[in-house]
Amino acid sequence: MTEIFGIMIVGSGRKRPPAGLTTENHPTHMLALKEESRMSILVTGGCGYIGSHTCIELLKAGRDIVVIDNYYNAKPEALRRVKELAGKDFPFYECDIRDEEGLRRVFAAHDIEAVIHFAGLKAVGESVSKPLEYYDNNVGGTVTLCRVMAEAGCKRIVFSSSATVYGMNNPSPLKEDMPTGAVTNPYGRTKYIIEEILKDVCVSDPAWTAVLLRYFNPIGAHESGRIGEDPNGIPNNLMPYISQVAIGKLPQLAIHGDDYDTHDGTGVRDYIHVVDLADGHLKAVDYAMTHTGAEAFNLGTGRGYSVLDLVKAFESANGVPVPHVIGPRRAGDIATCYSDPSKAERVLGWKAKRGVEDMCRDSWRWQSQNPKGYDE
Ligand code: NAD
Ligand code: UD1
Repeated sequence: MTEIFGIMIVGSGRKRPPAGLTTENHPTHMLALKEESRMSILVTGGCGYIGSHTCIELLKAGRDIVVIDNYYNAKPEALRRVKELAGKDFPFYECDIRDEEGLRRVFAAHDIEAVIHFAGLKAVGESVSKPLEYYDNNVGGTVTLCRVMAEAGCKRIVFSSSATVYGMNNPSPLKEDMPTGAVTNPYGRTKYIIEEILKDVCVSDPAWTAVLLRYFNPIGAHESGRIGEDPNGIPNNLMPYISQVAIGKLPQLAIHGDDYDTHDGTGVRDYIHVVDLADGHLKAVDYAMTHTGAEAFNLGTGRGYSVLDLVKAFESANGVPVPHVIGPRRAGDIATCYSDPSKAERVLGWKAKRGVEDMCRDSWRWQSQNPKGYDE
């Protein structure tokens, strides 16, 4: 890995060197230039939890990728393991999506046919205390990215949206044509605003495609146990919390309320295996190649599991106890949230294949093989 003007570069495959580099001073380029120029997919936030799993699936499918990340919530080790698992190298740039010049250099150096845009901040609680950071990073960053994409003539984007855009008022199963925007926190609002911006961009220029992927609750890890979710500090989300209790890092799980109107009183969610989610991105990119305009798709299984269901499934899949107590409700939570995933099946030809047992088993394999996450 070499550092050049604040950009970390891994691997080869560039169309031409980034500014400041010539084929003379960067021998990898001489090889790269001799290769036939191939179109790549730019993955923003590709070092993160969902991005790293998607990179593997893209590489396995024979796609060329270029990855950028600013390491805000990720470690270089994740991509090192992606390369190891895929058995392939690819260019990586340490670059912030708000850095217009940095992005220009990446687009100048590669033929990018589409962007999968994961980069963003995602902690709901933090977004309440730091709203400007969330609007700047998520909304501002996406605007900058789209501006540079348009300049480079790359007008296909697959965006990481969230079921959170459906807000508090829609009944499950949630469908793509239900109203969005009644969100309760700045994080969710950034997802809603970005969806609206991307729709406007598609109206302004019919050459654009924006595939808005509304994720439900991604959990699980790559079946190798080599990559997975590596949260900073005490996790907010259920599965990383369960895993850390199971391994003894945390004493017990507090279940946030058992008086909801659900089958056992605990909150019901649509958990989806992260590798199924990653596969959804491959289908979304294929769709973007042959369609224009903005289109939203739910990526979920269509099945809801309660907190207690998930705890029991984890215990039985892995043979480990998960001590838990019932605590008060968490502010902002809803009782039930699950998808109607039929549009993604009908239009994209995508359907989640893995069940809750796979999700629990793979989460535990990652946690138990990497008790300190990527910090080993
Ligand atoms: P993550 O934090 O693991 O990955 C996001 C990556 O983006 C990180 O590697 C981070 O370092 C990088 N990043 C953040 N800001 C950046 C910037 N300005 N420039 C460059 N890189 C930047 O999160 P994840 O769980 O993999 O989520 C990926 C995307 O999916 C996010 O946009 C998130 O909001 C969205 N999403 C996640 C979930 C979930 O439960 N994990 C659910 C719905 C939507
Ligand atoms: C959270 C985010 C949402 C985001 C989604 C992505 C909040 C309020 N919402 O939703 O914006 O899109 O993740 O996956 O953070 N639970 C416990 N104990 C815990 C943790 C969670 O009982 O320690 C319960 C929650 O009350 C909920 C369920 O587990 O019923 C799932 O929680 P979580 O993993 O945080 O996801 P969401 O609340 O669906």
